[in-house]
Amino acid sequence: MKKTLKITGFFILALFLAIQLKPVDRSNPSEIADSGLPYEVKTILKAKCYDCHSNESHWPWYSYIAPVSWWISDHVHEGRREVNYSKWDTYSEDRKEDKIEETFDEVLDGLMPIESYLITHPDAKVTEEEIDVFDMWLAGEL
Ligand code: HEC
Repeated sequence: MKKTLKITGFFILALFLAIQLKPVDRSNPSEIADSGLPYEVKTILKAKCYDCHSNESHWPWYSYIAPVSWWISDHVHEGRREVNYSKWDTYSEDRKEDKIEETFDEVLDGLMPIESYLITHPDAKVTEEEIDVFDMWLAGEL
Protein backbone atom coordinates (compact mmCIF):
# COMPACT_ATOMS: atom_id res chain seq x y z
CA MET A 1 0.00 0.00 0.00
CA LYS A 2 2.67 2.45 1.09
CA LYS A 3 4.81 1.49 -1.87
CA THR A 4 1.95 2.05 -4.34
CA LEU A 5 1.39 5.52 -2.89
CA LYS A 6 5.05 6.33 -3.23
CA ILE A 7 5.14 5.19 -6.84
CA THR A 8 1.95 7.11 -7.68
CA GLY A 9 3.37 10.21 -6.00
CA PHE A 10 6.56 9.86 -7.92
CA PHE A 11 4.72 9.60 -11.24
CA ILE A 12 2.55 12.63 -10.50
CA LEU A 13 5.63 14.63 -9.60
CA ALA A 14 7.46 13.45 -12.71
CA LEU A 15 4.48 14.34 -14.89
CA PHE A 16 4.21 17.77 -13.26
CA LEU A 17 7.89 18.43 -13.91
CA ALA A 18 7.68 17.12 -17.46
CA ILE A 19 4.79 19.40 -18.44
CA GLN A 20 6.83 22.41 -17.30
CA LEU A 21 9.08 21.80 -20.30
CA LYS A 22 6.40 22.63 -22.87
CA PRO A 23 7.15 26.16 -24.13
CA VAL A 24 4.48 28.81 -23.44
CA ASP A 25 4.32 32.03 -25.44
CA ARG A 26 4.11 34.87 -22.91
CA SER A 27 5.42 37.53 -25.26
CA ASN A 28 4.01 41.04 -25.41
CA PRO A 29 4.26 42.36 -28.99
CA SER A 30 5.81 45.84 -28.99
CA GLU A 31 3.18 47.46 -31.22
CA ILE A 32 1.08 49.99 -29.24
CA ALA A 33 -1.36 52.08 -31.28
CA ASP A 34 -4.15 52.81 -28.81
CA SER A 35 -4.08 56.61 -28.82
CA GLY A 36 -7.39 56.66 -30.75
CA LEU A 37 -9.29 55.38 -27.71
CA PRO A 38 -11.12 58.07 -25.72
CA TYR A 39 -9.32 58.73 -22.43
CA GLU A 40 -12.25 57.63 -20.22
CA VAL A 41 -12.62 54.36 -22.11
CA LYS A 42 -8.92 53.60 -22.17
CA THR A 43 -8.65 54.11 -18.41
CA ILE A 44 -11.27 51.41 -17.79
CA LEU A 45 -9.92 49.03 -20.43
CA LYS A 46 -6.38 49.40 -19.10
CA ALA A 47 -7.46 48.54 -15.57
CA LYS A 48 -9.84 45.69 -16.40
CA CYS A 49 -9.25 44.30 -19.89
CA TYR A 50 -5.68 44.91 -21.04
CA ASP A 51 -4.35 41.68 -19.53
CA CYS A 52 -6.09 39.76 -22.34
CA HIS A 53 -6.92 42.39 -24.95
CA SER A 54 -3.70 44.34 -25.41
CA ASN A 55 0.01 43.98 -25.99
CA GLU A 56 0.59 45.06 -22.39
CA SER A 57 -0.46 41.89 -20.56
CA HIS A 58 0.80 41.31 -17.04
CA TRP A 59 1.99 37.75 -16.61
CA PRO A 60 1.54 36.79 -12.92
CA TRP A 61 3.78 34.19 -11.23
CA TYR A 62 1.16 31.46 -11.74
CA SER A 63 1.31 32.08 -15.49
CA TYR A 64 4.73 30.38 -15.29
CA ILE A 65 3.39 27.11 -13.89
CA ALA A 66 1.88 24.47 -16.18
CA PRO A 67 -0.93 23.60 -16.68
CA VAL A 68 -2.29 27.01 -15.48
CA SER A 69 0.17 28.74 -17.83
CA TRP A 70 -1.38 27.03 -20.88
CA TRP A 71 -4.80 28.13 -19.85
CA ILE A 72 -3.78 31.77 -19.25
CA SER A 73 -1.80 32.10 -22.47
CA ASP A 74 -4.75 30.64 -24.42
CA HIS A 75 -7.03 33.30 -22.92
CA VAL A 76 -4.60 36.06 -23.83
CA HIS A 77 -4.06 34.85 -27.39
CA GLU A 78 -7.75 34.28 -27.96
CA GLY A 79 -8.59 37.61 -26.33
CA ARG A 80 -6.10 39.49 -28.52
CA ARG A 81 -7.51 37.79 -31.61
CA GLU A 82 -11.03 38.97 -30.75
CA VAL A 83 -10.05 42.53 -29.98
CA ASN A 84 -6.63 43.98 -29.28
CA TYR A 85 -7.09 47.51 -27.96
CA SER A 86 -3.34 48.12 -28.38
CA LYS A 87 -3.95 48.02 -32.14
CA TRP A 88 -7.02 50.25 -32.08
CA ASP A 89 -5.58 52.89 -34.42
CA THR A 90 -4.84 50.24 -37.03
CA TYR A 91 -8.50 49.07 -37.18
CA SER A 92 -10.78 50.21 -40.02
CA GLU A 93 -13.73 52.45 -39.14
CA ASP A 94 -16.11 49.50 -39.68
CA ARG A 95 -14.10 47.26 -37.41
CA LYS A 96 -13.93 49.96 -34.74
CA GLU A 97 -17.71 50.33 -34.88
CA ASP A 98 -18.20 46.57 -34.51
CA LYS A 99 -15.76 46.37 -31.63
CA ILE A 100 -17.29 49.32 -29.77
CA GLU A 101 -20.66 47.62 -29.99
CA GLU A 102 -19.28 44.23 -28.92
CA THR A 103 -17.41 45.84 -26.02
CA PHE A 104 -20.58 47.51 -24.79
CA ASP A 105 -22.62 44.32 -25.17
CA GLU A 106 -20.07 42.21 -23.33
CA VAL A 107 -19.85 44.51 -20.29
CA LEU A 108 -23.59 45.17 -20.24
CA ASP A 109 -24.29 41.43 -20.11
CA GLY A 110 -21.54 40.96 -17.50
CA LEU A 111 -19.68 38.52 -19.80
CA MET A 112 -16.34 40.31 -19.59
CA PRO A 113 -13.92 40.03 -17.89
CA ILE A 114 -14.32 36.24 -17.95
CA GLU A 115 -15.29 34.70 -14.64
CA SER A 116 -12.04 32.86 -13.96
CA TYR A 117 -10.17 36.18 -14.20
CA LEU A 118 -12.43 37.75 -11.59
CA ILE A 119 -11.40 35.13 -9.02
CA THR A 120 -7.85 36.49 -8.99
CA HIS A 121 -8.82 40.07 -9.96
CA PRO A 122 -12.07 40.87 -8.10
CA ASP A 123 -11.56 44.63 -8.70
CA ALA A 124 -11.82 44.06 -12.45
CA LYS A 125 -15.61 43.73 -12.25
CA VAL A 126 -17.16 46.45 -14.41
CA THR A 127 -19.32 48.95 -12.47
CA GLU A 128 -22.61 50.60 -13.52
CA GLU A 129 -20.82 53.94 -13.97
CA GLU A 130 -18.30 52.30 -16.26
CA ILE A 131 -21.04 50.69 -18.33
CA ASP A 132 -22.44 54.22 -18.80
CA VAL A 133 -19.06 55.30 -20.17
CA PHE A 134 -19.15 52.48 -22.75
CA ASP A 135 -22.72 53.48 -23.59
CA MET A 136 -21.58 57.06 -24.28
CA TRP A 137 -18.75 55.73 -26.42
CA LEU A 138 -21.24 53.71 -28.46
CA ALA A 139 -23.46 56.79 -28.83
CA GLY A 140 -20.46 58.73 -30.17
CA GLU A 141 -20.48 61.12 -27.21
CA LEU A 142 -16.82 60.69 -26.23
C1 HEC B 1 -8.70 36.74 -18.68
C2 HEC B 1 -8.75 37.24 -20.01
C3 HEC B 1 -9.78 38.27 -20.40
C4 HEC B 1 -10.07 39.47 -19.79
C5 HEC B 1 -9.44 40.07 -18.55
C6 HEC B 1 -11.08 40.10 -20.61
N1 HEC B 1 -11.38 39.30 -21.68
FE1 HEC B 1 -12.61 39.74 -23.24
N2 HEC B 1 -12.27 37.92 -24.08
C7 HEC B 1 -11.43 36.96 -23.57
C8 HEC B 1 -11.51 35.76 -24.39
C9 HEC B 1 -10.75 34.48 -24.14
C10 HEC B 1 -12.43 36.04 -25.42
C11 HEC B 1 -12.91 35.11 -26.54
C12 HEC B 1 -13.84 34.07 -26.05
C13 HEC B 1 -15.15 34.60 -25.54
O1 HEC B 1 -15.81 35.39 -26.23
O2 HEC B 1 -15.50 34.25 -24.40
C14 HEC B 1 -12.89 37.40 -25.20
C15 HEC B 1 -13.78 38.06 -26.02
C16 HEC B 1 -14.09 39.41 -25.90
C17 HEC B 1 -14.85 40.17 -26.87
C18 HEC B 1 -15.44 39.64 -28.15
C19 HEC B 1 -16.77 39.03 -27.85
C20 HEC B 1 -17.52 38.60 -29.07
O3 HEC B 1 -18.52 39.25 -29.39
O4 HEC B 1 -17.11 37.62 -29.68
C21 HEC B 1 -14.94 41.44 -26.38
C22 HEC B 1 -15.63 42.62 -27.04
C23 HEC B 1 -14.27 41.47 -25.11
N3 HEC B 1 -13.75 40.22 -24.84
C24 HEC B 1 -14.17 42.58 -24.30
C25 HEC B 1 -13.59 42.61 -23.04
C26 HEC B 1 -13.63 43.74 -22.15
C27 HEC B 1 -14.31 45.06 -22.46
C28 HEC B 1 -12.96 43.38 -21.03
C29 HEC B 1 -12.75 44.19 -19.77
C30 HEC B 1 -13.91 44.71 -19.12
C31 HEC B 1 -12.46 42.03 -21.22
N4 HEC B 1 -12.90 41.59 -22.45
C32 HEC B 1 -11.65 41.32 -20.33
C33 HEC B 1 -10.59 37.10 -22.49
C34 HEC B 1 -10.60 38.17 -21.60
